[in-house]
Amino acid sequence: MHNKTHNLLLQWYKINGRHSLPWRITDDPYKIYLSEIMLQQTQVKTVLERFYFPFLKKFPTLLDVAKSDLDDVLKMWEGLGYYTRAKNLHTAARQCQGVLPKNASELLELPGIGRSTAHAVSAFAYKESLPILDANVKRILHRYFAIEQRDEKQLWKAAYELFDAKHPFEYNQAMMDIGSMVCLAKKPLCDVCPFEKGCKGKSNPLKYPQAKIKKIKPVRNRIIVVYTRNGKFALSQRKERFLHGLWGFVQYEAVEKNEAVLLGHVTQHYSHFTLQADVYVCEGDYVNEECEWFAPSEIMNLSLSGADHKVLKLIV
Ligand code: ADE
Repeated sequence: MHNKTHNLLLQWYKINGRHSLPWRITDDPYKIYLSEIMLQQTQVKTVLERFYFPFLKKFPTLLDVAKSDLDDVLKMWEGLGYYTRAKNLHTAARQCQGVLPKNASELLELPGIGRSTAHAVSAFAYKESLPILDANVKRILHRYFAIEQRDEKQLWKAAYELFDAKHPFEYNQAMMDIGSMVCLAKKPLCDVCPFEKGCKGKSNPLKYPQAKIKKIKPVRNRIIVVYTRNGKFALSQRKERFLHGLWGFVQYEAVEKNEAVLLGHVTQHYSHFTLQADVYVCEGDYVNEECEWFAPSEIMNLSLSGADHKVLKLIV
């Protein structure tokens, strides 16, 4: 790629980049890795304001994560969503015994680290010369090279073509900033974009990438029953992959609970379905043996899913 384009990008980054983001002013690979995992599915603002610092306070090093129980890691992830990330982080910490490998190809072997995340961590922590390819960067590349089709292989090729191999840190951070501040999905600000000159898609940026065929999210109807006995409530810990490790009230597919009293309704949106549940309360011991009984103050110390938090609000 042309030197001039890279110079314009570096110049833009110097003036407009988000230099004070905490994961940009550290060279601790763990702090960079943690930020990349949190930012995979969550916005910068949320990570920054509510999750990044408390997590680092509780687990100052990756060895602290490795030594802790998954429950404690999940507790710090509570509310951030996509809990597989926390499970993978915990497994990865143990797998590498608290010491992250020093290049992208070995990082890629850890659970939860895909190619773009491996490149990001390695470029930011070790200055390894590799481009990233997250959703924002993809949009820039689609437009810059006028690529309509969402083709992963072609996009990686484009990522290497535009890449400034001499400045992996600044280039990749700048791409993230352009993606979130300039090359916006619905309202791209081409006038202030450093790529404006060479961008093949600038006359019609909204054409790139091709619109996704929207899948209709399925609705799962469930019954949630809050069993209660002597001021305590029955919860069990999820063993399945989805929301693994989180605690929750008893859920049924859909059954008649005549002895139960309707408390309310909760709706929770997940990436691949929407949960709709009527919530009942039921006095007595009818619950299965997987459940344990907790007082409200004890429930506060468990990690609950978003839906179970909403149920909790109905009862306390
Ligand atoms: N999203 C993912 N990684 C990021 C970073 N380093 N800075 C800003 N946003 C990001």
